[in-house]
Amino acid sequence: MCGIIGCFGRGDDTLDTLVDGLEKLEYRGYDSAGVALAGETLAVCKTAGTVEELRSALGARSMAGHVGIGHTRWSTHGPPTDENAHPHLDCEGEVAVVHNGIIENYQPLRDELEAAGHRFTSDTDTEVVPHLVEEALAAGESPERAFRSAVERLEGSYAIVALVEGHDGLFAARNDSPLVIGLGDGTAGDPNPEQFFIASDVPAFRAFTDQVIYLDDGEFAHLDGGLTVTDAEGNRQSKAVNTIEWAATETGKSGYEHFMLKEIHEQPRAIRQCLRGRVDERSATVDVGEPGELSPTGVQFLACGTSYHAALYGAALFRDAGVPAQAFYAHEYATAPPPIGDDLVVGISQSGETADTLSALREAANRGARTVALTNTVGSTMDRECDHTLYIRSGPEIGVAATKTFAGQLVALNLFSLAAAERATTRRAVVPALRDLPGDAQQVLDESNAEAVAAEYDSAKSYFFIGRGLQFPVALEGALKLKEISYEHAEGFAAGELKHGTLALVDDQTPVFALVVGDGEKARKTIGNIKEVEARDAPVVVVTDGQNDAARYADHVLRVPASHPRAAAILGNIQLQLVAYHVADRLGRSIDRPRNLAKSVTVE
Ligand code: AGP
Repeated sequence: MCGIIGCFGRGDDTLDTLVDGLEKLEYRGYDSAGVALAGETLAVCKTAGTVEELRSALGARSMAGHVGIGHTRWSTHGPPTDENAHPHLDCEGEVAVVHNGIIENYQPLRDELEAAGHRFTSDTDTEVVPHLVEEALAAGESPERAFRSAVERLEGSYAIVALVEGHDGLFAARNDSPLVIGLGDGTAGDPNPEQFFIASDVPAFRAFTDQVIYLDDGEFAHLDGGLTVTDAEGNRQSKAVNTIEWAATETGKSGYEHFMLKEIHEQPRAIRQCLRGRVDERSATVDVGEPGELSPTGVQFLACGTSYHAALYGAALFRDAGVPAQAFYAHEYATAPPPIGDDLVVGISQSGETADTLSALREAANRGARTVALTNTVGSTMDRECDHTLYIRSGPEIGVAATKTFAGQLVALNLFSLAAAERATTRRAVVPALRDLPGDAQQVLDESNAEAVAAEYDSAKSYFFIGRGLQFPVALEGALKLKEISYEHAEGFAAGELKHGTLALVDDQTPVFALVVGDGEKARKTIGNIKEVEARDAPVVVVTDGQNDAARYADHVLRVPASHPRAAAILGNIQLQLVAYHVADRLGRSIDRPRNLAKSVTVE
């Protein structure tokens, strides 16, 4: 939440670099945006609204300078107004600061600074930082020392980048919020980079370089035509340079109207990437490296949102293999963890930066647990803090609604359980289904009638989704996707649960989406639940692989190819993603940037 960027550039293009970078970070927040450049004097432009509105506000304004910072905001302290937009300044407009995170002790700091005569212009927690720097400068400290003194007074989470007028460089510090530095002009291993970037995430500057350094908690960076990283005590740190493996073009829309639609259509490729080199079809064996060799006697999955739905699916796979496993909301786990014993603790997170999940994993690690990160983001905090990592390899996901990364998570969870826990008979049944999954996903995308179904029901005020077993997490996910981008009410249920209360809400205006796969007991019982809602006049949309007669009871059918139920869950979910997308599109919603949300939730 909140995207920040800094650039120590070469020429006059720094402003464009910052604004383009902010556009790539808008998935982190889009309540307001702003930039500051250090030329002869410090110049700032900021506004409530999106980066597009910042572009308009910049208009013909000339802001020169080769060193600058920028911010796109997801509001925590204070509404999305011009005043609360970052960068924030000190009294004299000589120190500019952008911040992602929450400064927990800002109120006593603000009281102290106001008592000392500082004038505040915003409601934000961030504004204490430039004033603290100002105080330290006034006390005679150098800009670098003044920045460090200010940061030393902060409690909470922060990624901060600051400019000080008259100083040709940028200062940065990190604690519990991500910051990554980009080096040079894209030449791998360039020992003398000419340009430096610093941002919340790599897409902000990927167009310029694939060489990055991840800052760790407690570290400071000084970018002034060279790069110095120091720890909290001021000792110089030698940092590894990493190469980003995805291309800059992957962060564009490739002709699609929305990132979400593009990313839904990227699922065959994302699944293929997740499987690549990990499955030996002839021997029906799976190799995911270290995590697959852990042979857990119990597994606790921790996650939030869509990733929590993946956790429910993963726990079911391990239980199926005879390993006790449970999924927990990370925020609940963090404050009330269950006994852990020898259980393996697995955090699932697309971003690897979700504060709730990080905090739950830290709680587990403090209690001696072995931890695994299942994430899309190489170099993320979760990746670096856990004992082991299993990458889902979906490529960058920009739309706030998680789509291809959910598919990647479910595929990776299959690989994990197959490698770590499951018997040969299960592997022989699942491996061919996984092999066929990219093609099956493509078939769903090519033949889907989800748009027509969306057109039928886009005026409903409430939608229910039901499924049993592995289709239950997909029912939850179908509902979450629909509500987060359409702003209409939707709920997902274990199919057997609807009759225990919620059935009272079902009428002829309540479409019920039922996931029914295979021809076993789960399918038969779900068909029974379909009949219950039909008896209350609810329109029914069935998502089915055609191996049962659920279609007979449906007003509309969304088909998926016949496959293993584990794969059917992934395929059925694609249909529900498309329904959510088309309902939201027909309602004219802001699909890639739904109101009130941010992709990466870095506050608890
Ligand atoms: C999904 O569409 C949401 N944007 C949200 O629920 C998300 O899955 C959740 O915030 C967790 O994010 P993470 O996977 O990056 O940890």
